[in-house]
Amino acid sequence: MALISLHSKPLLLQFMLLIFFVLGNRLHASDPPLTLDYYASTCPTVLENVKKEMECAVLADPRNAALIVRLHFHDCFVQGCDGSILLDDTITLQGEKKASPNRNSLKGFGIIDRIKNKLESECPGIVSCADILTIAARDAVILVGGPYWDVPLGRKDSVTAGYALSNTNIPTADEGLLSIISKFLYQGLSVTDMVALAGAHTIGVARCASFRARIYGDLKATSGHDPISDSTLSKLKSICPPIGGSDNNISAMDYVTPNLFDNSFYHILLKGEGLLNSDQDMYSSVFAMGTKELVKKYAEDAIAFFQQFSDSMTKMGNITNSDSFITGEVRRNCRFVNT
Ligand code: HEM
Ligand SMILES: *[C@@H]1O[C@H](CO)[C@@H](O)[C@H](O)[C@H]1NC(C)=O
Ligand SMILES: *[C@@H]1O[C@H](CO)[C@@H](O)[C@H](O)[C@H]1NC(C)=O
Repeated sequence: MALISLHSKPLLLQFMLLIFFVLGNRLHASDPPLTLDYYASTCPTVLENVKKEMECAVLADPRNAALIVRLHFHDCFVQGCDGSILLDDTITLQGEKKASPNRNSLKGFGIIDRIKNKLESECPGIVSCADILTIAARDAVILVGGPYWDVPLGRKDSVTAGYALSNTNIPTADEGLLSIISKFLYQGLSVTDMVALAGAHTIGVARCASFRARIYGDLKATSGHDPISDSTLSKLKSICPPIGGSDNNISAMDYVTPNLFDNSFYHILLKGEGLLNSDQDMYSSVFAMGTKELVKKYAEDAIAFFQQFSDSMTKMGNITNSDSFITGEVRRNCRFVNT
């Protein structure tokens, strides 16, 4: 029974979710394509401006790189990459910021506001917030030592947000591996994309609330034959006591090089020391047959990881919102729909 009770969701349900998501998979081949030179005549300085602002932000605090990369991920998994994550709550619109994966957790909105202000003064009404976030995420990765990739542009900003979709589409740390895989397949992303994109956890931190179940859980089950070391475990337990108001105490997911985009995240998984259940599962879960080899590969070959991460980020950035191409707009303020 240990097999089935490894995670909160029973095996059968995980498989049903998987089938459901694969069948429900939708990508819109008819959407207008994104292009590399979309702003070439209307706002030729766009890339330069985003880069400059991101340099300032990451120089001030390397954590800012992680914040922006995660914002982009949470944007793209809900209605496509349409800037919906950036919308504030108003009387008429329920934003995504208070959905459970985001509440008390997502940050970095001020950085996007600053970039937007700069671009509105240079080329008013031209560059979408969704494009800004996509470019900023690429620059964030470069600034902490990660790979470059070209960013196709031309996204529109949504006039709606997906509070409920945020709760269903975004994977969580204590969800089973198969259920997480199904959420990537639903977005048109593969298992390979998932393992590579999760490599973004080579930067940034998680809150105690996100790893408490891991450190007080069944370590033999979650870390396989390589359980987390006693010293790491006791450090984590002191940051994250079993009960009490310490939910927001943080720990780096890559404790070796927390501010560097490299492949040491995968080395940590090989040692059984992944901070999140969901990360360690990619190597240690009984369902990890498709993912374990990829973890090993990216641990051994940093170039292969960088190459796949670049491709997968482009693919994730390509998840478009069909509605946004029709009803979408270029927001003047990323937090509010234009009036
Ligand atoms: C594979 C499924 C994934 C799960 C279950 C997951 C879950 C999480 C969780 C629980 C946190 C900590 C949040 C907190 O405690 O406040 C986190 C942080 C983070 N995630 Fe993921 N994530 C996943 C995939 C991704 C992807 C695809 C990306 C980007 C490509 C990403 C980028 C990040 C970054 C950069 C952070 C650190 C943010 C910070 O420092 O505040 N994650 N993730
Ligand atoms: C992303 O979309 C652009 C155009 O819309 C296309 O040229 C490119 O091949 C796509 N890339 C991936 C990795 O899907
Ligand atoms: C974690 O939070 C508690 C308060 O709940 C605090 O007393 C403790 O010092 C924090 N630990 C660390 C390492 O931040």
